[in-house]
Amino acid sequence: MGTDIYQIGIRPLLFHGLNVDPELLHRWTLAWLQGLEDTDHPIAQLTTRALHRSYCLEHSALCQSLWGLSFANPVGLAAGFDKDAVAVGLWSDFGFGFAEMGTVTLHAQPGNPLPRLFRLPADRAALNRMGFNNQGAEAMAARFQARQQRGLTPAYPVGVNLGKSKVTPLDAAPEDYVGSFRLLKPWGDYFVVNVSSPNTPGLRSLQAADQLVGIVAALQNENQGDKPLLVKIAPDLEWEAIAAIVELAQTYQLAGIIATNTTIHREGLTTATLRATGNRVEDEMGGISGAPLRQRSTEVIRFIYQKTTGTLPIIGVGGIFTAEDAWEKITAGASLVQVYTGWIYEGPWMVRRILTGLLHRLQHHGFRQIDQAVGIDTIHSDGVLPAGGTDGVG
Ligand SMILES: Cc1cc2nc3c(=O)[nH]c(=O)nc-3n(C[C@H](O)[C@H](O)[C@H](O)COP(=O)(O)O)c2cc1C
Repeated sequence: MGTDIYQIGIRPLLFHGLNVDPELLHRWTLAWLQGLEDTDHPIAQLTTRALHRSYCLEHSALCQSLWGLSFANPVGLAAGFDKDAVAVGLWSDFGFGFAEMGTVTLHAQPGNPLPRLFRLPADRAALNRMGFNNQGAEAMAARFQARQQRGLTPAYPVGVNLGKSKVTPLDAAPEDYVGSFRLLKPWGDYFVVNVSSPNTPGLRSLQAADQLVGIVAALQNENQGDKPLLVKIAPDLEWEAIAAIVELAQTYQLAGIIATNTTIHREGLTTATLRATGNRVEDEMGGISGAPLRQRSTEVIRFIYQKTTGTLPIIGVGGIFTAEDAWEKITAGASLVQVYTGWIYEGPWMVRRILTGLLHRLQHHGFRQIDQAVGIDTIHSDGVLPAGGTDGVG
C-alpha cells in the first residue's frame, strides 16, 4: 500500500507535531467543507472538481443496486462525521459511494462536556463520548431544503441516522424517533435507527427486542414502506441478542442491519493512559473505534449473514483501513461498508486506495461485479450460535 502527503507530512504534523485537539481539527474540517458547500462561487466549484479528480475512482464493477438505490461503489462515510449534514453534497467528491448523516436527534443538544474525543495512535483507534451533539432534526431538514432551493440534490445515496434525544425518557423513545423521521423523511434515501451509541444513558438498552419493537413498529407505521429503514447495532451484544434483532428485522421488514457501532470493551489496547486527561483508558467513558474493533465487527457481520442466509443486506463498519479490511467485511457478508476512524488515520486518498484494491480482488477471483463477492467467505447455514460471547474485540 502506498503512502501519500497526508500520511508523510500532514498527519504527523497535526497529530504529533502540533498535537491539534481532535475535535477542533474535526470542526475546522467541517467548517471548511461547509464554506465550500454553501457558496456557488467559481473557486468553490473548481475546488470540488479538484477534489473529485484526486479522490474518486469510477468503475462499473463497483456499482451496486440496493433498495432501489444506485451505489457507485460500496464504501461510505459512517455516521458521526457529518452530524448536521453541513457537507452533504461533498462526500461523493471524496470518493465515497454513499454517506450517512447524523446521528440527529429530535431536539438540538450540546452533547457531553469536553474533552470527549481522543486519538489512540498506538492502537490506530479513537475513543469518543460525543453524546449526539447536533443541531436537531428541524435544522437538518431546513439545510436539505435550502440546498434543494439552490437546485442541488446529492448525486449519491444519503442516509440519515436517527438517535434519541437525551431529554426524552426511554419509554417515550418511539415518538422521539418518529418525530425526527417525519421531519427528515423527504430528504434521506435510507434511515437508520441508532440504538447502539454507548454515550447516551440507557440508549443501548433499546436494543433489547422488546424495547426495539416499539420503535421499529412506530417508524414503519409512519414510513408506510416508502424508505429503507435499517438498525445499527453494538458489537458488544451477545449472540442471542443479535439473533433476536435479526428476527425482529425480518418480522418488521427492515431493509438491513449496520454492524457495528463502537465498543465499550478496552481489552487488547496498547494505550494505557490518555495523554489529554492523564486517566487510564479503562476509566474513561466512551466507545472505541478503529483497528481494535475490526475483528469483532466482522464476526457480527458473518453471524448475521449466516443467520439470514444472506437475505438481509448488511452495512459493515468497524476498523476498516485497507482494501483487505474492506474485502474481509464484504466476503463475510457486508453488501456495503463504511469508514470513520480509518479515514482519519489514512487520509483522503484512502477510499480510492480501497476501491483500487477491491477491483484487483474482483479481478483475481474472476468476479464481474462487487455483489458477487458478498458473503463468499461465510458458509450459508441456519446455524448454531458460535461459541463464546462478546470476547472477540481486540
Ligand atoms: C468521533 C466519532 C463519532 C461518532 N458518532 C456516531 C454517531 O453519531 N452515530 C453513529 O451511529 N455512530 C457514530 N460513530 C460510530 C461510527 O459510525 C462507526 O460505527 C464506528 O466508529 C466504527 O467504525 P470505524 O472503526 O471505521 O470508526 C462515531 C464514531 C466516532 C469515532
